[in-house]
Amino acid sequence: MRQQYVFTTLTLLILFSLSCSTTLAQSPALAPAPSGPTNVTKILEKAGQFTLFIRLLKSTQVANQLLGQLNNSNNGMTVFAPTDNAFSSLKSGTLNSLTDEQKVQLVQFHIVPTYLTSSQFQTISNPLRTQAGDSGDGKFPLNVTTSGNSVNITTGLTNTSVSGTIYTDGQLAVYQIDQVLQPLQIFAPRPPAPAPAPAKSKNKKATTVADSPDVTPADNSKAATLQNVGLFGVAALVIALSL
Ligand SMILES: *[C@@H]1O[C@H](CO)[C@@H](O)[C@H](O)[C@H]1NC(C)=O
Ligand SMILES: *[C@@H]1O[C@H](CO)[C@@H](O)[C@H](O)[C@H]1NC(C)=O
Ligand SMILES: *[C@@H]1O[C@H](CO)[C@@H](O)[C@H](O)[C@H]1NC(C)=O
Ligand SMILES: *[C@@H]1O[C@H](CO)[C@@H](O)[C@H](O)[C@H]1NC(C)=O
Ligand SMILES: *[C@@H]1O[C@H](CO)[C@@H](O)[C@H](O)[C@H]1NC(C)=O
Repeated sequence: MRQQYVFTTLTLLILFSLSCSTTLAQSPALAPAPSGPTNVTKILEKAGQFTLFIRLLKSTQVANQLLGQLNNSNNGMTVFAPTDNAFSSLKSGTLNSLTDEQKVQLVQFHIVPTYLTSSQFQTISNPLRTQAGDSGDGKFPLNVTTSGNSVNITTGLTNTSVSGTIYTDGQLAVYQIDQVLQPLQIFAPRPPAPAPAPAKSKNKKATTVADSPDVTPADNSKAATLQNVGLFGVAALVIALSL
């Protein structure tokens, strides 16, 4: 019995390691036409100089969304990937000043839910709709114009052009850009003068509400007092009983 068990285990182990090694041996050959969705993170890692964009893709979970979307989409996807230099030329503190939601929107603004070849850029109608949504005025419009071979992109705040093709496979296109695309919705200068005054009083109200957790410690101390009374009562009872 025992020997048979050992034998079976060994056989399974051998079979398993064989299948592992064949999988490993096969994977380079499979690389050009991978089964399953294309991994954008991997493509960017291989290309180098996109560490900050990769970090954002991961921290916002947009990388996972992309995997799912590529797997389910017939239209494909286009990603405009800003280089690390693009991120370092942002005003310092720019990323840190964004809320989590804005970070997601910023990353999604760099993704178009259609596969676009460079020749399609010439006939595309503006504004493009990105994953960030609403391409209306002041929201998330992205305009692409071409002159000769150069493809220019404007958001209303950022002017840049496509500076390289990192990857295309008929389903996914990844282009390099040298500036972070800043959407108006997030980065437009705030309207000046009259607007801020009411906004501030709203903020004050908001902080008052936010301050209300003060109530909780008070409740806690009440609870603590009740507990003390309770303990005292029990102690008194014990003393009374023992007498
Ligand atoms: C995609 O590639 C990255 C980097 O190579 C890796 O960390 C990640 O696990 C991959 N994701 C999937 C779903 O394979
Ligand atoms: C891709 O999609 C198919 C069916 O649409 C699904 O069965 C499969 O689990 C998906 N794979 C991934 C990695 O999302
Ligand atoms: C594209 O941008 C370049 C500078 O980056 C500029 O010289 C050129 O005029 C722009 N072309 C179009 C069609 O906007
Ligand atoms: C984008 O193109 C549309 C249509 O041509 C235009 O109305 C809009 O003003 C443009 N926006 C920017 C930011 O260039
Ligand atoms: C972008 O280009 C437009 C027209 O080509 C110009 O009016 C605008 O000032 C430029 N914006 C920046 C930030 O360079």
